[in-house]
Amino acid sequence: MLTQLLACTDANIKKAADCIRNGGLVAFPTETVYGLGANGLDKTAVASIFSAKQRPADNPLILHVNSIFKAEELCDFTTNAKTLAKLYWPGPLTMLLNKKPIVPDITTAKLSTVAVRMPRHPVALKLIEYSACPIAAPSANRSGKPSPTTAKHVLDDLNGRVNYILDGGSSEVGLESTVIDMTLDVPCIYRPGAVTPEEISMVLGECEVSAGVMRDIPQNAHAPSPGMRHRHYAPKAPMCLIKGKPEAIASYIRDNFQSGDCILAMEENLCLYEGLPVESMGKNAQEAAHRLFYLLRQMDERNVKRIFTETLPENGLGLAVMNRLARAASFHIVSL
Ligand code: TXA
Ligand code: MG
Repeated sequence: MLTQLLACTDANIKKAADCIRNGGLVAFPTETVYGLGANGLDKTAVASIFSAKQRPADNPLILHVNSIFKAEELCDFTTNAKTLAKLYWPGPLTMLLNKKPIVPDITTAKLSTVAVRMPRHPVALKLIEYSACPIAAPSANRSGKPSPTTAKHVLDDLNGRVNYILDGGSSEVGLESTVIDMTLDVPCIYRPGAVTPEEISMVLGECEVSAGVMRDIPQNAHAPSPGMRHRHYAPKAPMCLIKGKPEAIASYIRDNFQSGDCILAMEENLCLYEGLPVESMGKNAQEAAHRLFYLLRQMDERNVKRIFTETLPENGLGLAVMNRLARAASFHIVSL
């Protein structure tokens, strides 16, 4: 298959939408990361998503819609879901709700719930509108690689496996959406993202964060969300997170550093690593979120031996950054 990179003109979005209507595959920008989209109600098209990204069939997909009304056609949209949708849609919030029969089993990996989200990127919204169907889209990476935050990342992973890539520049948030189970008495976050547990608790009065967010779930154990099983976001090099005061972290890294290793540190701490190869994660959680997957891919390209990484406070967006870092490190965390 020939993969064509398209600028996000209206004509090109229409061309991509035609492709989706005809059962094809289109990678498109969202505000979180790039998605690999197909008609979410077409079993054959959905099957081609799984094969293009070599995704295990037991990992369900998110259906992307462009209104609450469209989401209601796919699932039992609860009162709490409506409350959150009114506040956070369009945006980086994916809700798990009981599915309606119209959603094929392959999309939800045979689960009785379906993941729905209305993205906020104007290109994604237009693509959904012109396609006139819910778009099933996982992140547009090969399974096991960090999610793509530029069209080039998508091309690197999926060249020859997708019909079109709509190039919308670099993703605003840089981390995937918050995934929250709305079918439970107390809604529970399975994947933290830019809509934070603190924000959701404020709105609904309560919200849990699944224990698996910051702890390892063994490959064969039951995970409330299949994507929580570990080594999902893994760079090639082994990675180690270090918790503690910046000076203590820096001296630990200096003691253990070997040639070929690389360090990821917050901007304000770069001065502690003079003379060593260090990359900045930025000034705050927002910048770290925006850069993280780009940095992890860079580590792969540079074939670094090992990666030492500073940690962030696990609140707000910091929890989402720490969740991705912990997974990338296969939960190898040193507390000083
Ligand atoms: O930001 C995002 O969510 C991006 C953009 C493209 O929208 N999409 C994305 O999709 O990250 P994906 O497939 O890479 O991640 C979806 C996550 C997976 O961890 C999957 O296991 C979980 O959501 N998930 C989907 N449907 C589920 C369900 N019915 N029950 C439990 N977990 C579900
Ligand atoms: Mg993914």
